[in-house]
Amino acid sequence: MNNFNFDEIIPRRNTCSLKWDKAASDDVLPMWVADMDFRTAPAVLSALQKRVQHGVFGYTKVPDEFYRATTRWFARRYGFCFQEDKILYTSGVVAALTAVIKALTKAGNRILIQEPVYNCFFSVIKNNNCEVISNDLIYQNNQYTIDFEDFERKAADCDTAIFLLCNPHNPAGRVWTREELTRMGEICLKHKVLVISDEIHCDFVFAPHQHIAFASISEEFRHNSVTCIAPSKTFNLAGLKIANIYAENAEIRQKIDSALHANELHEISPFAVDALIAAYNHSETWLEALKIYLYKNYLFLKQYIATHLPQLKVTPLEATYLVWIECKALNINSKEIETLLFEQENLQVNAGTLYGAAGEGFIRINIACPRALLQRGLEKIRTVISN
Ligand SMILES: Cc1ncc(COP(=O)(O)O)c(C=O)c1O
Repeated sequence: MNNFNFDEIIPRRNTCSLKWDKAASDDVLPMWVADMDFRTAPAVLSALQKRVQHGVFGYTKVPDEFYRATTRWFARRYGFCFQEDKILYTSGVVAALTAVIKALTKAGNRILIQEPVYNCFFSVIKNNNCEVISNDLIYQNNQYTIDFEDFERKAADCDTAIFLLCNPHNPAGRVWTREELTRMGEICLKHKVLVISDEIHCDFVFAPHQHIAFASISEEFRHNSVTCIAPSKTFNLAGLKIANIYAENAEIRQKIDSALHANELHEISPFAVDALIAAYNHSETWLEALKIYLYKNYLFLKQYIATHLPQLKVTPLEATYLVWIECKALNINSKEIETLLFEQENLQVNAGTLYGAAGEGFIRINIACPRALLQRGLEKIRTVISN
């Protein structure tokens, strides 16, 4: 079907890689922060090589093709249609969330999240003088669901200004269904809570699940939401710093635009522009092959754990390449597990509590690496746990 070699082990030590160079030792195997150990898509590489060959790297004017490539990708893959002039670009989704929160809240406002959830949600809320309020997800029978009564109670709090939705959800691995999204969206409309939908992981949804863009559900939802999207997880471009914000509502969009400018978050590099265009226009085959490889990694991990570590429970992976593993049977807390894995076997994973108190008893493992590395990581876990 293709000749992409996801088994190739590409050395990343001493490449200014946060993932690989954070720890001093050469022996460390990092399976924590969410970037992949694969080379990006060939079309992206050629576009970047062409840019380097040109050799002049002045200030950037973002061309029309950047917007066209973005809107076509979402329309084609998810039936999520929006106009090019309703997009604002910035250097990352976290920067986007910062600008949106700055633009649309007052100090002391509450922002509703669903713990356990992506750790930067906490920092962007707190750094903008707002308060976190969590509608913790329900974990039962190895599955995550939403406590809608609690959701409504918290949305109805008059200080709650925004619901920060993670769609699909990191680290729970859930792809929210149309019914779940509709129910949450209706509650937010009723209580005048704006929805920010972080959809950065939407390209890693595994069949039979389907990504539903929150804003695509109804016109009312479209006007009551802001969507953050990026090619950075999908094509492994996090270091190139690029993301987009789609806001249908003109007043909201203008406020976000002002916040981006006021905080100098509106500049991107020519590499980011070229990479996005090549990714969205010419790299779909690569992505489909990658998704197959990633899902096989997940099945490999599940099988390994079922065979050698039956005391651990792997949460179903509907989306993302971040596997969420329940370790409660070990009777030690998740931070201690993280420390033991690092100190005894040089393996870096994330403790579940990084994603809020509701993550206690879990660890998160990044499986976006060649299968041989994944196997090495699993063997390290087995060694530590059997000790
Ligand atoms: C849900 C979510 N949003 C945003 C980000 C980071 O986005 P960026 O690197 O564009 O700031 C991540 C990275 O893991 C993530 O999981």
